[in-house]
Amino acid sequence: MSANPPIITVNRVSKSFPGGVQALDRVSLEIAEGEFFALLGPSGCGKTTLLRILAGFETPSEGGIFIDGADMGRVPPNKRPVNMVFQSYAVFPHMTVAENVAYGLKVTGAERKQIPDMVDKALELVRLAGLGDRMPDRLSGGQRQRVALARALVKKPRVLLLDEPLSALDAKLREAMQMELVRLQDTVGITFVIVTHDQNEALSVADRIAVIDQGRLLQVASPAELYEYPESRFVADFIGKMNLFEGTNVGCEDGILSVLVNGLGRLDIPVTEMTNSDVGLAVRPEKMLLLDEHPGDAFLAFPASVDKLAYQGSETRVFLTNEKDVSFEVSVRNASRDSAANPFRGRMWVAWKHADTLILPD
Ligand SMILES: Nc1ncnc2c1ncn2[C@@H]1O[C@H](COP(=O)(O)OP(=O)(O)O)[C@@H](O)[C@H]1O
Ligand SMILES: [Mg+2]
Repeated sequence: MSANPPIITVNRVSKSFPGGVQALDRVSLEIAEGEFFALLGPSGCGKTTLLRILAGFETPSEGGIFIDGADMGRVPPNKRPVNMVFQSYAVFPHMTVAENVAYGLKVTGAERKQIPDMVDKALELVRLAGLGDRMPDRLSGGQRQRVALARALVKKPRVLLLDEPLSALDAKLREAMQMELVRLQDTVGITFVIVTHDQNEALSVADRIAVIDQGRLLQVASPAELYEYPESRFVADFIGKMNLFEGTNVGCEDGILSVLVNGLGRLDIPVTEMTNSDVGLAVRPEKMLLLDEHPGDAFLAFPASVDKLAYQGSETRVFLTNEKDVSFEVSVRNASRDSAANPFRGRMWVAWKHADTLILPD
């Protein structure tokens, strides 16, 4: 083991439920101390199950987990150095904000006279200072979720587990709370593990993201790495928007991979790794340019006709097809006010740099 062991180790964890549902399939990952880690995937992929296994509310069918170096196999939830914040606010309606936050402390028997001070500090952390006497029904949704956070943080867990904590909030508030979570995690230095199905949320808050699909761990990487270097079609497609072209490998020599793509012809792409298998080629819409003329050898370029525009304020999405019915989606940033009257119509060149072509093996 390295000098700085991970705070969480998930070792080949599988979980099947009665009725034949395999919620997790041999998931292994490590989370470093102080990391803001996200579990990301579509609804039903097993995220909550993994979080509940970490918290001790579920037991793995196979495999095991270690927290802070200790095997959690026989450790009940209340003896684990973790705390969980649930999707629904789970704030007690008949208690004041301060009583809600103090609740967990009392049952663990913390020194009684220190409680008010600890509660104040926790409320300050989540920017609810002075609201200790309020009843929850007089708080906004965002404030109630802060109470739940304060209640989890006041116990100073080593790891905070958050299951879709912001999903009940509207979009604007959710974005503000995402930034709050980042600030909070930075301040307290506790390891956060957040579950979300919202890729933008994962990209904006996390240091690293694990993408899960149908119980399988597909990739663990930083947000930028995941976006720019997805390793599979699923990840490429799930995170952001992607143009995907399926191709036949017709040769890989001297660092050039030649791929025959139906409707585009032969594309020669510089590669660092040789491959003999067929591949998919993927290009992000914002890496593509729309031009009146072929931009030269530094680019791959194909003529196509503009079918449709979708104006979205900060960007315009341009949809095109070529004469062989290959479609492209290009995203153009509206960098100045007159870009609203944009010139995209008729036949244009869709172009991108070779290096912006992702190669996805079969
Ligand atoms: N207690 C349970 N009994 C049976 N099936 C369950 C149970 N909990 C979860 N599942 C199933 O396991 C799969 C993963 O669920 P879950 O971990 O809640 O997904 P997610 O949080 O990613 O949406 C789903 O198919 C779900 O229906
Ligand atoms: Mg869930």
